Amino acid sequence: MIVKALLPFVFLGLVCGASSANFRVREKLNAAPHAFTSVGPASPEQTITLRLALAQGNAGGVVDALYSVSDPASSKYGQHLTKQEVESLVAPKSDTKDAVDTWLKTNGLTATTLSPAGDWISIQVPVSKANELFDANFTTFTNQNTGKDVIRTLSYSLPEVLQGHVDLVHPTVSFPASVELPLAAKQKRAFHSIVQRDPSSACSADNTTIPCLQELYGIPLTPATQKNNSLGVTGFFGNNAHRDWLKIFLQTYRPDMDPDTNYTFVGFDGGVDDPTAPSVSEGELDIQYTVGLATNVNVTYYFGGIDNQDGDLSGFLDELNLLLSLDTPPLVLTTSYGRSESGLTFDLVDKACQAYAQLGARGTTILFASGDSGVGCGQINETLFSPTFPSDCPFVTSVGGTQSFSPEEAWAGSSGGFSNYYARPSYQDAAVSAWLDAHGSENAGRFNASGRAFPDLAAKADRFIIYASVFFPIFGTSASSPTVASIIALINDRLLAQGRPPLGFLNPWLYSTGYQALTDITAGNSSIQCAAGEAPRGFDAVEGWDPVTGLGTPNFDKLLSLLDL
Ligand SMILES: *[C@@H]1O[C@H](CO)[C@@H](O)[C@H](O)[C@H]1NC(C)=O
Ligand SMILES: *[C@@H]1O[C@H](CO)[C@@H](O)[C@H](O)[C@H]1NC(C)=O
Ligand SMILES: *[C@@H]1O[C@H](CO)[C@@H](O)[C@H](O)[C@H]1NC(C)=O
Ligand SMILES: *[C@@H]1O[C@H](CO)[C@@H](O)[C@H](O)[C@H]1NC(C)=O
Ligand SMILES: *[C@@H]1O[C@H](CO)[C@@H](O)[C@H](O)[C@H]1NC(C)=O
Ligand SMILES: *[C@@H]1O[C@H](CO)[C@@H](O)[C@H](O)[C@H]1NC(C)=O
Ligand SMILES: *[C@@H]1O[C@H](CO)[C@@H](O)[C@H](O)[C@H]1NC(C)=O
Ligand SMILES: *[C@@H]1O[C@H](CO)[C@@H](O)[C@H](O)[C@H]1NC(C)=O
Repeated sequence: MIVKALLPFVFLGLVCGASSANFRVREKLNAAPHAFTSVGPASPEQTITLRLALAQGNAGGVVDALYSVSDPASSKYGQHLTKQEVESLVAPKSDTKDAVDTWLKTNGLTATTLSPAGDWISIQVPVSKANELFDANFTTFTNQNTGKDVIRTLSYSLPEVLQGHVDLVHPTVSFPASVELPLAAKQKRAFHSIVQRDPSSACSADNTTIPCLQELYGIPLTPATQKNNSLGVTGFFGNNAHRDWLKIFLQTYRPDMDPDTNYTFVGFDGGVDDPTAPSVSEGELDIQYTVGLATNVNVTYYFGGIDNQDGDLSGFLDELNLLLSLDTPPLVLTTSYGRSESGLTFDLVDKACQAYAQLGARGTTILFASGDSGVGCGQINETLFSPTFPSDCPFVTSVGGTQSFSPEEAWAGSSGGFSNYYARPSYQDAAVSAWLDAHGSENAGRFNASGRAFPDLAAKADRFIIYASVFFPIFGTSASSPTVASIIALINDRLLAQGRPPLGFLNPWLYSTGYQALTDITAGNSSIQCAAGEAPRGFDAVEGWDPVTGLGTPNFDKLLSLLDL
């Protein structure tokens, strides 16, 4: 019962009482997520911005196209779609555009188009008007964990004229994450101890550095050569990166590189390239390890501003619309932010997930850190594990974490598990079924065995030395994702040099072929203690795919030979 009360239950197509606009409930919660308490109706005069997702002309077409260009068994493998081809699939049909235009006009509204295909628009309206337009009850809720207020409604409806033309309105029933993002462990501390190191290895018990990763995964120091090659790094929540600190980092760990090697800054939602901003580590980590590993690859920092602080996916959606608007989006995108899947409605999650499919269909490899809280401590109830977004999306590649070296083992914080929203995609059927057969009874009932399973692969997550005024170690899958992104970017460089397409969406290739170039991680676990006095719980890293380290960690030389490079 309690589970039901806390889960967002979405009711579609229920006819609401007698109303002139003939409203139909579109999304509805029984209650706000448990961290949020209502403090009364939102002020009627307050202006809010609402995004409307319009029905796409051929939504299923994008996923079909994604698989056909990403599955090595397909005759269209590698034949990525152009911007125009993707847009022609997702652009709303003319009856949808007409219906929405008429509704806007009738209500005296002007909309801003947010996405290049025109399937997202936004309107700014006072709360009173929003309540009227969508038969809603916008309310102020306080997040008990952060003290921050948000305006949400527990239900909203669409007038008859928009039914079938508008898929959802946001932000309405999806709440910000109940705890602050990013997922990255803020387990940083000033560096002091110097542990004896193995003189034959660049890795040591107390440091993961660029030379260590180069040695461990066989990453070459040779500069990339292809002008078209590119790597995008996402930044949110004030995680600025600093060029003067990058320079000191490069001087220390890449003395062979030009210390002034730059990256491109692209701000959105008011994100500003501010060299005086305080460091919150994640930005330095992501930039220092991509610029430092993906030698001579054009790295761009896509940095979202203060508007994203809500953590309700608005920043993710804005970044997606920005990238989709580019003629040449980055060939690899790494993001070390995410949140619990619960608290977001499936419809909203799916809008973002389908947009990642659009980018993937165009040839971008999309990597996300799997998260740093192991199996996830009961966001819904104390017992149930909690999967993370966007790793739950079947159209992205999720990167878990390892620790130590020779051999690596699972990093205890490495998030992994099973989505409650997405069924297991066929590309991972064999690998995940094998794990379920052998290990699915452990922790049974705490996870959804039929769901999309993650992570897909892994890389080191322990003690990455970064520079921000001082050198200090930082932990988390936040470090793993940029590492894998750099490797993929260097592989792409060799592919482009041979006139071949970039790797694009990895998973169908990874599970059918690419796993042979990975080192299977078979020791360690993701056990974490969720509550004082409770035994730690989690999954073990085992032979084959597992929900801690996926298929394993990359080996550059094996990747090259598998790809005939
Ligand atoms: C709207 O929400 C407020 C709480 O913010 C509640 O007191 C009120 O009863 C609700 N109104 C309706 C019509 O549901
Ligand atoms: C680890 O990194 C720190 C900071 O760069 C450095 O001072 C220390 O000497 C390193 N330790 C080893 C064993 O390399
Ligand atoms: C690479 O860039 C050149 C010049 O801008 C362009 O003509 C070509 O289509 C690009 N190739 C790819 C694979 O993007
Ligand atoms: C680095 O790039 C930024 C633009 O992204 C530019 O403003 C800055 O001048 C560049 N720095 C150097 C040292 O070239
Ligand atoms: C690097 O990528 C950015 C963003 O796509 C672009 O603006 C810039 O011109 C590129 N720089 C080089 C040297 O290709
Ligand atoms: C949590 O979920 C499990 C599995 O559905 C259920 O058996 C248990 O009663 C729930 N616990 C609480 C406190 O709701
Ligand atoms: C489990 O996942 C499936 C999708 O694979 C979904 O349909 C189902 O609702 C999920 N069950 C729960 C309890 O969330
Ligand atoms: C998980 O790994 C830790 C060491 O990282 C170990 O102490 C613990 O016993 C392991 N737990 C299980 C259940 O294997």
